Amino acid sequence: KNIAVFASGSGSNFQAIIDSVEAGDLQANITLLVCDKPDAMAIQRALKHGVPTFAFSPKTYQDKASFEAEILTRLKEVEVDFIALAGYMRLIGPTLLEAYEGKIVNIHPSLLPAFPGKDAIGQALKAGATETGVTVHYVDQGMDTGPIIEQVAVPIYESDTQNHVRKRIHDVEHELYPKVLQQILNPAEVRTN
Ligand code: GRF
Repeated sequence: KNIAVFASGSGSNFQAIIDSVEAGDLQANITLLVCDKPDAMAIQRALKHGVPTFAFSPKTYQDKASFEAEILTRLKEVEVDFIALAGYMRLIGPTLLEAYEGKIVNIHPSLLPAFPGKDAIGQALKAGATETGVTVHYVDQGMDTGPIIEQVAVPIYESDTQNHVRKRIHDVEHELYPKVLQQILNPAEVRTN
């Protein structure tokens, strides 16, 4: 299967996916990185690993439908079957949702439906939660609302700063996301023993 990863920032989850593909654990080809921030670190990671990139500035397009039409053209060019959002900070619109129905997943740093949207880790700390986590879910038109595929809980300790929690969550994400992608893309290959 050919997958595209969408990222807006550092791309550490994108890196985990690259590493898993290179190790042969995730059987897929990453045929495109889509990035809406032309200076994002994710782009450097793509360059280093030979992943073709479509980087764009949304403000140079008339609206979401226009830049998603362009994304769709790029996805088709490299025959993308499946999309993994990894820190892509935008809602996916109808253009892409209809073209890739049931074939877009996202990773979110909370136990959804708790703490959707931006700064989920900050939200959990502010709420005084003693536990948060990571969710991988299918994407629908809502903000972090689609059907949940897998969740892992992550504790929050009293002495934690935001950085401690972020690190703990990232460690879980980097293991979970490639694993879930392998389960979805190659279900017959998953061994339980
Ligand atoms: C991750 O915490 C992910 O759950 C959220 O955005 C963050 C992206 O981090 N959607 P990175 O760019 O993969 O390092």
